[in-house]
Amino acid sequence: MTRHAVIAAALLLAAACARPPEKPATEGAPRIPMTGPLIAASVSMKAAWEFPKNPLTDTTLDHSRLSEEIRRGFRLFTSTPAEAPRLAPGGMSCTNCHMNAGQRERSMPLVDVAGMFPEYNRRSARLFSLGDRITDCFLRSENATAGRLAPDEVPNPASPEVLAISAYLTWLSKGGAMGKNPPWRGQNAIAQAALVPVDQLDPKKGEAIYNDRCATCHGPDGQGVQIGDKIAGPLWGPRSWNDGAGAARVYTLAGMIRYSMPYLDPGNISDADAQHVAAFIDSKPRPAFPYKDRDYRVEKLPPDAVYYTRQLTTARLGD
Ligand code: HEC
Ligand code: HEC
Repeated sequence: MTRHAVIAAALLLAAACARPPEKPATEGAPRIPMTGPLIAASVSMKAAWEFPKNPLTDTTLDHSRLSEEIRRGFRLFTSTPAEAPRLAPGGMSCTNCHMNAGQRERSMPLVDVAGMFPEYNRRSARLFSLGDRITDCFLRSENATAGRLAPDEVPNPASPEVLAISAYLTWLSKGGAMGKNPPWRGQNAIAQAALVPVDQLDPKKGEAIYNDRCATCHGPDGQGVQIGDKIAGPLWGPRSWNDGAGAARVYTLAGMIRYSMPYLDPGNISDADAQHVAAFIDSKPRPAFPYKDRDYRVEKLPPDAVYYTRQLTTARLGD
């Protein structure tokens, strides 16, 4: 045996000894792979109800008013339609998109994000508090808009539901740095070099990918199928996010799909396919956000904001 081979054999033996003893599959709950404080992006739908931090069971929380609000915020976040039916007309929870209650890697996680607000918001061209940002997801992603709600019911940063969710998200950021981006923030974007120009995206190809890889759970009609105790949210139609939402932007939606779907094999879709399927989903009709004309008045309209582009084209055609 050469000296190198001896060292290699010794290293192999050391590695084998260092590995914890394999437990039989039946013994104890399986350990869920984590990335820091987050459920790893590779974890499948089986762990959809796992929450690394859960205020409902956390023994460090007492019965103070603040602790109660943190628990209420968590319930609102994970079962929005049941806890706030008027504010979730589509039947989709925050956790549908910010999976594992905002504690999943590459699923727009919200851990340690509270300390980044207030932050400049390009769409509205002003500083946003955390409450403003939560309100925006109610108004757009949850489609809780003025058309269907009385003026005093429309979510705003002082709404009890928004404050309770702020309490939960601030609790998720406890101990995190102020004003320092956590490394897992902004990781849902498709790399610049892999972006396909919007006019080269093919919704027909996207439809074929959808039927092949998504329809078993999301349904041929896109409205979501109940699988065990989970239901995928409606991807288009009157119950889906409205056309002013982040998910109504093709690249943003592709970035959500690319790293979290298909849910039994997350991450196993190419950059290009994620964009084609997003182009298909965002070619479908969905509720109109009534204030689109107030967006992007200062900053440039992003190229993937397809519902805005279509509206502009229609307006121009109608001139
Ligand atoms: C249809 C999908 C969807 C749903 C449902 C949804 N969101 Fe979002 N959310 C997004 C997208 C997309 C973004 C923007 C991410 C980006 O800019 O990269 C976002 C951003 C956020 C942010 C800012 C995150 C950051 O890092 O700046 C917060 C906070 C947030 N959402 C809270 C909520 C809350 C609370 C709910 C439920 C009331 C909710 N979201 C429901 C898609 C969704
Ligand atoms: C094995 C079932 C399954 C498959 C396959 C699957 N999804 Fe999902 N998807 C889900 C579930 C369940 C949720 C809700 C997640 C949650 O609440 O934790 C979801 C959430 C989503 C969301 C967030 C908004 C919403 O409607 O809930 C999008 C967008 C999405 N899926 C797109 C896709 C696309 C595109 C594909 C195909 C490439 C796909 N999914 C394949 C089960 C699946």
